[in-house]
Amino acid sequence: MRFIFLGPPGAGKGTQAKQEAETLGALYIATGDELRKAMAAGTPLGAEAKSYIAAGKLVPDDVMIGLVRELLRQPAGAKGVIFDGFPRTLPQAEALDRVLAEQGGAVDGVLYFDVPAAAVIERLGGRRVCRGCGATYHVQHNPPRTAGKCDQCGGELYQRDDDQPETVRERLRVYEAQTASLLDYYQAKGFLVRIHADRTIEQVREEVRAAMAKPVRRA
Ligand code: AP5
Repeated sequence: MRFIFLGPPGAGKGTQAKQEAETLGALYIATGDELRKAMAAGTPLGAEAKSYIAAGKLVPDDVMIGLVRELLRQPAGAKGVIFDGFPRTLPQAEALDRVLAEQGGAVDGVLYFDVPAAAVIERLGGRRVCRGCGATYHVQHNPPRTAGKCDQCGGELYQRDDDQPETVRERLRVYEAQTASLLDYYQAKGFLVRIHADRTIEQVREEVRAAMAKPVRRA
């Protein structure tokens, strides 16, 4: 099964996708995480992505499509693939359809994390990320056991540069301008399932699990 987690920045896609991929044994493809790893490692991809991410803009489609094509060379997990943060534009969505078709597959469902902008701004303002393993916390909604320290690996927690209010505003604008139209693309194909993502992390998890148990793609 191949699922796309779609929605505005800070909607909670990563929080749910990481956990579900781990629980199900699915391959987890998070393009934002891949770009941050590349920046930390100082690779050419990281150097190219840096200025776009810092400005809250999207990295060009050809770069992202090439990256995902490469990541999909890995064997899928026993339960398929979860895409988090990809696709984000119509050309990316069409390219993903082509790449999956080459592999004899297709998208099985798109989970749309529907959450108001005000909640997103509050969530991103309080988000903290582990430098070591990338685990995500929130100072109020999902705090670590010890302030500033990752529960899983003991790594230092930091605030992403692109979670500063000005960059968040730009990321939301970019989402509306370039990504929101994908809702129509997948709705027209009959793939879209709306997740009420303004509930607690546990309530959202229940809804995500129910949606993934019933993929909507017709054979
Ligand atoms: P990326 O890393 O993908 O960022 P994003 O899509 O903006 O998503 P976020 O990681 O900000 O949010 P999320 O929905 O995963 O929320 P989270 O679970 O962390 O991309 C970053 C940049 O990379 C982009 O701006 C772009 O430049 C580039 N990029 C990446 N992919 C690209 C592509 N395909 N094309 C072009 N460019 C690309 O949750 C947020 C916070 O809320 C956390 O603190 C969490 O603990 C908390 N939280 C989660 N759920 C809940 C809940 N239910 N209630 C309360 N708090 C909650």
